[in-house]
Amino acid sequence: MAINGIKGFNDILPGDVEKWQHIEATARRVFELYGFSEIRTPILEKTELFCRSIGDATDIVEKEMYSFVDKGENKVTMRPEGTAAVMRAFIEHKMQALDPVARLYYMGPMFRYERPQKGRYRQFHQIGAEVTGVSAPTVDAQVLTMLTHFFAELGLDEPSLQINSLGCPKCRPVYREALKSFLLSKIELLCEDCNRRYETNPLRALDCKSPGCQEATKGAPAMLEYLCPECAEHFEATKKYLELVGTTYQINERMVRGLDYYTRTTFELVTGLLGSQSAVAAGGRYDGLISDLGGPALPGIGFAIGVERVALLLAEKDFSRRPDLFIAALGDEAHAEAFKIMSALQRLGAAVEIDYEGKSLKSQMRRADKFKSRFTLIIGGDELARGTAPLKDMDGGTQSDVALNADAIVKVIKG
Ligand code: HAM
Repeated sequence: MAINGIKGFNDILPGDVEKWQHIEATARRVFELYGFSEIRTPILEKTELFCRSIGDATDIVEKEMYSFVDKGENKVTMRPEGTAAVMRAFIEHKMQALDPVARLYYMGPMFRYERPQKGRYRQFHQIGAEVTGVSAPTVDAQVLTMLTHFFAELGLDEPSLQINSLGCPKCRPVYREALKSFLLSKIELLCEDCNRRYETNPLRALDCKSPGCQEATKGAPAMLEYLCPECAEHFEATKKYLELVGTTYQINERMVRGLDYYTRTTFELVTGLLGSQSAVAAGGRYDGLISDLGGPALPGIGFAIGVERVALLLAEKDFSRRPDLFIAALGDEAHAEAFKIMSALQRLGAAVEIDYEGKSLKSQMRRADKFKSRFTLIIGGDELARGTAPLKDMDGGTQSDVALNADAIVKVIKG
């Protein structure tokens, strides 16, 4: 019996992979305009890194991590997200000595043991970006503007930006207590998870999808009403800078993120086109994370984009590539000449196809059709004798004779 892949782990096949490459290339191009450099960190990290950063009482750490003990008795985890690993690397390599303001981006697979469905997988891919060392709200506005710029470059205007502020260690505990007292009389309405998390993480009830939690949190106080003056000022300034550069947003005061490291600005890019998996990108500030992980007291902010979800939004677009030229050949001698010209043209930078086995002209032309090549060249005995052959422009329908050498051909097909 054939062996299949694992549930929630997908192959990305040719035909689809071109779309992925386009998404990745767009991210590189846009992020580099904003001064970001790529960082690559390993897939495996110490389990402790994620427990300490994402938080013990989160769904990710409680239920979703691919953790195991390796052959050296080390507790390790396949990264469920990128921020903790990038900050671990920032601290480990003392990157702040070079410049406390590091602007880093990354792309690659992440792993969470979630229930697979459309837009939610166990191995999924993120493109993320992080900035360290700046608390100024200009950087919040810039990170959000870069994120929306990336989506606009892909021609996706639909996902809308929602923002909130989760305050800081000074004001959030006050809010937590206010929310807990509000929920106390309604505790029996909360779902099992939110009931259990009432003490450790009561904010999660605000964005829980269960009807009981939605009922219980109706009219609940909002974090925004409890921000300390510094956090309130930071949030106002972030909004002002977003408006200054024309980045549109909505405030979602119920947005709480599923990771504990967030402070102040948090955000999600939300789409109505992917059912319940509505967040195509998300992130926020994490001003305490770097020091919590044993590094310098520097703030940070960043986001991660879910690549599978972006690919789903681009489902209608065709990213398949076309060769520049297909060479059809009749007879052994012409076949050898076609092979030689193909090889020379490829070294000159043209994408060329032939039929390896030199089948009938009809079947070669069927292959040319399948490849949707931009030009076709047909070589037979007469053409070999003349040293020229008809080159057909498949889009324009025009045809002209061209000398049978790569330099002459490349001028026409790449010219
Ligand atoms: P997150 O909200 O857990 O944040 O994930 C970010 C994005 O990854 C989500 O909005 C979604 O598009 C995608 N995603 C998450 N889980 C899955 C899944 N199982 N299948 C498919 N896509 C998924 C973080 O990971 C933070 N590290 C973001 C961040 C960066 N915050 C600051 N810097």
